[in-house]
Amino acid sequence: KRLLPLLAMFSLLLSGCGREDLSVLNPQGPVADGQLGLIKLSISIMILVVIVVFAIAAYVLVKFRRRPGQKEMPVQVEGNHKLEIIWTAIPLLLVIVLAVPTIQQVFASGEDKWKQEGVLQVEVTGHQFWWEFNYPQYDVTTAQELLMPVGREVALQLKTADVLHSFWVPSLAGKTDTNPDGTINHMSFSTEKPGTYIGKCAELCGPSHGYMEFRVKAVEADAFDRWVESTKAPAVLPEDTQLAEKFKTNCLSCHAVGDQGGFTGPNLTGIGSRETVAGILLNDSNGAKGSSPVKDNLVQWLQDPQEVKPNNTMPDPKDLGFTDEEIEQIAEYLANYKLDY
Ligand code: CUA
Repeated sequence: KRLLPLLAMFSLLLSGCGREDLSVLNPQGPVADGQLGLIKLSISIMILVVIVVFAIAAYVLVKFRRRPGQKEMPVQVEGNHKLEIIWTAIPLLLVIVLAVPTIQQVFASGEDKWKQEGVLQVEVTGHQFWWEFNYPQYDVTTAQELLMPVGREVALQLKTADVLHSFWVPSLAGKTDTNPDGTINHMSFSTEKPGTYIGKCAELCGPSHGYMEFRVKAVEADAFDRWVESTKAPAVLPEDTQLAEKFKTNCLSCHAVGDQGGFTGPNLTGIGSRETVAGILLNDSNGAKGSSPVKDNLVQWLQDPQEVKPNNTMPDPKDLGFTDEEIEQIAEYLANYKLDY
């Protein structure tokens, strides 16, 4: 009976691993397939070792136990060359069996495919606490959602604007660090299945590290082309001219919409079509549990960005002179800023 609460806790713990969209056990592309293969190989070897060691231990315990009436010391054995060679050679062999495919795959997944023909080039920049995606082949920049066509290999160049982050999409590939020393890391992946794949920052990077979530969205090639087109369309601004002025002066000094604005904050073009606000507030358009309408999420964010993501660099709009009513209007405008694809 005492075991029951323990078992319950254990199954609760395991159920935490049940997020299929965030699991290396649910690979959706060749890189993740290979990584799962490595996990299976190492777990099989570990299970084998555990079984053999426990079997020997059990055998020794039974066979050489002290029998009733036994008084004298058993024979003491010291040193055995043959045994020592065997138990050095076996682990060495196991390590080699593990190391060869692991090293092969580490080098393969970090290979620089940037210049290869046909790849989709994406520059990934980690920021505290959001992700920027730049497509030099199309002259398009976006944030929080990396859009990719299915069936086309994506070659990434990874860097950071501030501290160390790590780019990880469990069901596609990863993890790869973004280094503050300026070195650029490479990785690549692809998938044949359209869908949304959740990504996480996998390197502790500050108070909101745990909220540094992003999406990789794989769509059909023609939808990707439409997305590029509509992203490049001229900026849409709030209809109210006074509000538009205020938006330009305050928001567009860091953020960009269409062909206007700055580059220190996340690009807001088409933010109404994204599955999240700020990477973590789920928009109801994707039907996720606990999600809210885009506008509500935007209001929540704009009312208190520090509450949603502590220590992020977004100033409080109210400190910039935005009234509650204007925040509602900005949220309304952004929620309706959608891309057609
Ligand atoms: Cu960025 Cu953790």
